[in-house]
Order: sequence, then C-alpha cells, then structure tokens
Amino acid sequence: MSETRKILVTCALPYANGSLHLGHLLEHIQTDIWVRFQKSRGHQTYFVCASDAHGTPVMLKADELGIKPEDMVEQVRAEHKQDTAGFLIDFDNFYSTHSDENRELAEDIYNKLNAGGFIARRTIEQLYDPEKKMFLPDRYVKGECPQCGAADQYGDNCDACGSTYAPTELKNPKSKVSDATPILKESEHYFFELDKFQTMLTDWLDSGSMQPQVANKLKEWFGDGLRGWDISRDAPYFGFNIPGTTDKYFYVWLDAPIGYMSSFKNLANSASLDFDEFWQADAKTELHHFIGKDIINFHGLFWPAMLDGAGYRKPTGIYAHGFLTVDGQKMSKSKGTFIKASTYLKHLDAEYLRYYFAAKLTARVDDLDLNMADFSQRVNSDLVGKYVNIASRCAGFISKLFDGKLSEQVLDPALANEFMQAGEHIANLYETREYGKAIREIMTLADKANQFIADEAPWQQVKDENTLARAHQVCSLGINLFRILTIYLKPVLPALAAKVSDFLNDDLAWQGHQTLLVNHSIDKFKPLLQRLDSKKIDAMIQDSKEDIQQKQSAAKTDKSNKSASKKAPEQKSDSEQLQTIEFEDFAKLDLRIAKIISAENVEGADKLLRIQVDLGEQQKQIFAGIKSAYQAEDLVGKLTLVINNLKPRKMRFGLSEGMILAAGPGGKDIFLLSPDSGAQPGMQVK
Ligand code: MSP
Ligand code: ZN
Repeated sequence: MSETRKILVTCALPYANGSLHLGHLLEHIQTDIWVRFQKSRGHQTYFVCASDAHGTPVMLKADELGIKPEDMVEQVRAEHKQDTAGFLIDFDNFYSTHSDENRELAEDIYNKLNAGGFIARRTIEQLYDPEKKMFLPDRYVKGECPQCGAADQYGDNCDACGSTYAPTELKNPKSKVSDATPILKESEHYFFELDKFQTMLTDWLDSGSMQPQVANKLKEWFGDGLRGWDISRDAPYFGFNIPGTTDKYFYVWLDAPIGYMSSFKNLANSASLDFDEFWQADAKTELHHFIGKDIINFHGLFWPAMLDGAGYRKPTGIYAHGFLTVDGQKMSKSKGTFIKASTYLKHLDAEYLRYYFAAKLTARVDDLDLNMADFSQRVNSDLVGKYVNIASRCAGFISKLFDGKLSEQVLDPALANEFMQAGEHIANLYETREYGKAIREIMTLADKANQFIADEAPWQQVKDENTLARAHQVCSLGINLFRILTIYLKPVLPALAAKVSDFLNDDLAWQGHQTLLVNHSIDKFKPLLQRLDSKKIDAMIQDSKEDIQQKQSAAKTDKSNKSASKKAPEQKSDSEQLQTIEFEDFAKLDLRIAKIISAENVEGADKLLRIQVDLGEQQKQIFAGIKSAYQAEDLVGKLTLVINNLKPRKMRFGLSEGMILAAGPGGKDIFLLSPDSGAQPGMQVK
C-alpha cells in the first residue's frame, strides 16, 4: 500500500442551541464513513468536531431557559456527544468553541490579522432594541416588506415577494425579542478586509480544493470585488472579547472555524500529537472539511483568508453536501418528518440509516431524499436479502457438517479473484466520496455470490455422499466472499462488521480483501441484522409529531383559555369523513403508463374484462370491471394508468397482477388516457 498519510478531518460544528436532527446526521455519517475508510487503510487519521457555542441565538435561548449560556452549551454538548455515539460517529474529540484553547487561538489569529493590516474599523448604523438594550441581527427584526407590503417579514428578505433589503428598510419594524420598535443607533465595527486576499483566493479556488461547481459559484461572488466582512458584535453577546476592548465581541463565525483548530489542539495536548505539523503554513499533512451547502462562503472564502492572513496552512479539501429532505419535502415538524437523532434511535437501528445515506450519497452538492418506503425496501432487500443472506445460507452447513472449518481448496478462483480485485476500485470510490457508486459495486458482487450459491445449491449437495465435499467448498467460498464484502462495507456498517469479525475470527482489516481464509475455524452464525419493520418508521414519525405537539400545547396553554368559549368544529360522522392517507402511503404506489395489448370478455363475469398490458419491460394480466364502458376490442392500443406494485390477487378466473385506473361516473363514461398524450408504456407517473 501507499505510504501512510496524516489526515485531519472535520465536519461542521453544530450550534449549541438545539438538538441534532437527521439533517445533521447526514453530514456526520458522510464524514464518518470517510474517516473510517481512511483509518481502515492504515492512515493516521483524526476526526474532530465541537459544539458551536457562541452567538445571539444561543444567548437568547439560555436567557429563555433562565440558565447561564455556558451551562446550556455544556448540556447540549453532552447531548450531541450521546446522539453521535448512537449513530457510531467515531470522533477523536468533540469539544466546544467556548474553551480556553479557542479563545487563545481566536486572539492569536485576530492579532496576526490586525498586525498584517487586514482589520479596519468603521462606524455603522444598525437597528437597536431600546428595551432589551441590544443591537438586532436581521433575523430578530420583523415588519412589513418595503416592496410588497406583506406583514410579518424578516429583516433580510421577504417570503411573499422574494425581494431582499436592509432591515432598516422594513416598514413598522418590531423587535422579535421584546416587541419594541427598534431605533437606529451608531456603533463602531471591525471588518476583515477580504479584498486584500482576492488574488490568493482566486488561486485557491482554482486549486481543486473544492468541488468545481462550488468554486465557480464562489468566483461569481467576488466578480464585483470582495467587501469587508463584519467580524465584531456589540455587548450583550455570548462570545469572546476582541483584544483591547471591553464591549466588543468576535462574531460567532469568526471563532467557529477556529474551533476546528482548538478541538484538535485539545486532542493534541492529551494525545501528545504535534499541533504545528497539522497547522503550520507549509504543513505536509492533510486537512479536510465536510460541510453543508448553506455555509460554503464561510469555509470557501473567509476561512482560507483568515488562515492565510495569520500565517497558517489552508485546507486540502472542502466538500459541501446538499440538504436532507424527507419523502421529497423539506423536513417538517407538523408532518413528523423533522426527526431528531434521539427519536430515530428510540425506534430504529443506526446502521439502517448509515447504509441508506451511503447508498444515496455522491460527491456532488445534490440534496438527498430520505424516502421512507424506499428506505425500508432498500435496507431489507440489499442488506438482509442479499448481503447477510450469503452468510446465512452457508454458515449452518460449515458448523454442522464440517466442524466449523473452512475448506482447504478454493472452488472457483476466478470468482474469488473478481471479489479481491474489486477492492481497488471500491477504495477509489470511497476516497472520492462516491459512496453510492461504491455500494452499487458491492451489491453487484453480492448478487454474484448469491447466484453462485443458488447455482450450486449446497442444500442439495449435502444430501449426497458424492457431492458432500463440493458442498463444503461451495459454503467455504460463500463465506469468503461474504467476508470480503464485509471488509468493503465496514466503513458504513462498523457495528455489523464487528459482529462478523467475531463470527469469522478475523480482524477484517482493509488489506485482508486480498486474501482468502482456508482451513480456518469460524464461530457459530448468529443473526446479524433484523429486517427493518416499517411499523417502526410509522411509530418514529408519530413520535416526532408528538414531540412538537407537546411543545406547542405547552406554549399555548395561556392562549387556549381565551378561545375556550369557541365551539369545537363539528365532528363529521365516520361515513362522511374523507379518509386521508399519509403521503408515505401514497409514495408507495408505483404508478405506470401501460398500453393495452389485448382484452377479452371473461366467461361467467358480466362486468369483468381480462386485459393484457404492456409496461415497457414486462407484460401483465389484469382483470378490470370496465366492461360497461368499453367493448373489449375497442380497448386494444389504448393507454391507461396502472398500479404496478399491487400485490397480485388470485381471482376465480386467474391471477390479476395490478390495477387499472380510470376516472368517470361509471356506466359508459369511464375514461382512460388519450393515446396521443405522449405517454410511453412503462413510464413512471409522479
Ligand atoms: N454552527 C454552524 C457551523 C459552524 S462550522 C465552523 C452551523 N451549525 S448548524 O447546526 O446549523 O449546522 C451544522 C451542519 O449541519 C451544517 O453543515 C449544515 O449544513 C448541516 N445541516 C443542517 N441542516 C441540514 C439538513 N437538513 N440537511 C443536511 N445538512 C444540514 O451551521
Ligand atoms: Zn415582499
């Protein structure tokens, strides 16, 4: 293998004012897979993170709870640590930006930037809450949009018409903190002069350290010159004092990325690592940041400029991922799809989600959809049906009939070779963060292993003395193929791999993919993974809804008294009530365009037609009660909509393998699709 690399990896530091949700976990899992992959290849890799402790939202939240921000940050940090451990995120350190190390480094960097002539001071006017005695960030002012007049809009942009403006332009502005009318007030601010880094940043963006589409977006940004970045905030603020002042603080985004350094410094101190080796200007080590697409400018522009200006190294790579959606939509509290990490863990196994995210992740910035129906289907068919199945088909015979020992001979060296050789390509896919492609490669191999076992049918071979030895070799190779697949899946499924490691008496190190176990004793097979029961998904969603309902009703108790006299909306009787289904139930329907290729009357049924449909890749027989509207022969060549994944139903006249959808009052008026609609057989309808 290539020489040992020294690699420092980070993911973004979650704010310390709330719980982790599955969106955060997308990032943690993406990063963790990369880290585990690097570690398994023998590279000296460190993975650090922290709670992002500072800023106005943290300060106000602590206020609301009546505790000190320091204490809240520590509580939230403990919760974040517990949640990430539950998802098997293997941090080497999870620290806090409210730490001595971070204060020292933030001051150090600021002092160097100041000495380098990169800090300017200017007086600016801002909205100020005279009651709460604080300046108001844009998101803490609400009022009427200066463009369209829409009420209740934030200080930066309008939800109704989409225009952007300064908070001072809002009409009838109100402070969200106190409801007071804000006034304009002057104050001196500190600016980091980014324009002095324009050349350096252009080179940096051309260096390939960021995804090409991200680098291009950032370059557009400074097309008309970079403006100074406001790095100071006035008291009251929860953060670090700017050196030489008593009432000015570093803006949270100044000391947050420095949190990467300080979390590593804290680790370096306790583990005797060389801090400078990872941060000095000419470092030969690697530094990689995984982030979400919403914080690209902080990492792609401000952070490299800060590092450069203060004489530190710049990152080797910054990788932005897209946002998580659930069932095709933004996570929603009312729909129960805003799922907290801890709520997920109450119901489901962390490795299901690790696998699903891995299977869908690319190296690009695309959003990723957690489709609940697809989620359970994917986990069950890939992990349980394909991967674990290999071992469960082979292991029993090895223990019962062959003394728990794998055979000496390798039955099909070409097949074994194919599995061993795939390692290099799969490694390359992990390295370049194309996890989805890696998983596809691995599952294609799993299919091949299953095919091999099915063709040999060891369950038949063991019944005959003459083929017993062959059964031993089949099962031994099956176990070996399973072992290699486990090595490839280990960065994604570390807990499962640990169980397999016990079962096979093997450490499953990455290099092991080039060897086979022969004459090797294995343990008794124990079930490795349960099927994902989709009822548990429903329960998790229900739980997430209740989470928020409880909060809302707690918040509303005082208001509810006022409306108590109002009559409750009248309850409709059961039969009147339209039964609603959840979106995820609807999403389970596989709706397809089908072409009717034949139709005939069914003997003994007055309403039914036996219809043969073409679905592009396959044909199906469906019985449909539309004889009142159509003569059998008139239907041929027509297009219709079909539920493709309806469980086949045995009818008196034969098997019906789907359902035809048509609309109309009935009788003669039942409508199918127009033949010139442009629809093609097999097309999926969404
Ligand atoms: N505190 C800052 C980061 C400072 S890094 C020096 C922050 N915190 S955050 O809690 O809002 O977000 C942490 C990370 O989670 C970010 O990379 C963000 O993009 C990511 N995500 C938050 N919600 C997300 C989704 N719904 N989907 C995917 N990632 C999301 O930003
Ligand atoms: Zn507007």
